[in-house]
Amino acid sequence: MTSIKNHRHHLSTEEQSLRKGIILAGGRGSRLFPMTHVVSKQLIPIYDKPMVYYPLSVLMFAGIREILVIATPQDLPNFKALLGDGSQWGLEISYAPQPKPEGVAQAFLIAEEFLAGSPACLVLGDNLFHGRAIGTKFLKASREVEGATIFGYTAQNPQDYGVVEFDEDGRVISLEEKPAKPKSKYVVPGIYFYDAEVVEMVKKLEPSHRGELEITDLNRVYLEKGTLRVDLLGRGTTWLDTGTPDSLADATQFVQVLQKRQGLKIACLEEIAYIQGRIDRSQLEVQIEKYQNTEYGEYLETLLE
Ligand code: DAU
Repeated sequence: MTSIKNHRHHLSTEEQSLRKGIILAGGRGSRLFPMTHVVSKQLIPIYDKPMVYYPLSVLMFAGIREILVIATPQDLPNFKALLGDGSQWGLEISYAPQPKPEGVAQAFLIAEEFLAGSPACLVLGDNLFHGRAIGTKFLKASREVEGATIFGYTAQNPQDYGVVEFDEDGRVISLEEKPAKPKSKYVVPGIYFYDAEVVEMVKKLEPSHRGELEITDLNRVYLEKGTLRVDLLGRGTTWLDTGTPDSLADATQFVQVLQKRQGLKIACLEEIAYIQGRIDRSQLEVQIEKYQNTEYGEYLETLLE
């Protein structure tokens, strides 16, 4: 396996974001029944890791340290058992319940105390991102102080997502949630960066016709204020979600193929923590102990070379 020892890139003081991260991992997962009857969707595996590792890795790439995991009251103990306080990865992870799935934007109301006036990055617990731009673009978005940054990505089925429309000069002219007739092929992936105003903005939102506080309505408020940035993720970036058995299988195959080919893992949290200097060699060794006689452990061993 390839050693990556020459690629350690410790987060500089500037890159260590004061922004706080939120992973929204609630919902009933009903589109994956019976898989998710007794296990949270965001805890089932994508190839060799629990799904929540992937969005967690994204927050690490964005330079974030303090993270709130939101899940249903019944699933929360499992997330705690899996992720703990996050110190094994140099993170501070805390937890909050979402009793009912009343919308993606509700995450900010649940997180109000945790955020305590900090800017925030929300990532959906079932979204997988991969590619070089992830590190640079998410880190850049994380360092913006005012306004909001969201992303655009071309999809074949825009009607299933939030859709963003641009004018000829590339300015955003509309945002719509799951429109029957999409005005563009650009959809908005489940990662959102907001300034410190976000909680107050969400408090002013009305639930949509499906009874949810919509993330697209929140983004429209920033758009109308003139403080919304939409950055396009190009061909070199992979974004997958895992809402159906098919898309889950696609994500698993993607991770399997790429990892096999490169001998490098996607979303290996110990590796990212070590490369970024969040944990040192002795802390990595403690993690390796946990994974003796596993393929995962063998991979971690190669990082020490
Ligand atoms: O994946 C990106 C898309 O995510 C965006 O393009 C859409 O604008 C956004 O609304 C959202 O669409 P989805 O149809 O994927 O939303 P869904 O209701 O399936 O929720 C996304 C994830 O968040 C899902 O894993 C469950 C979780 N969730 C959702 C809601 C509404 C919660 O944990 N709590 C909630 O209240």
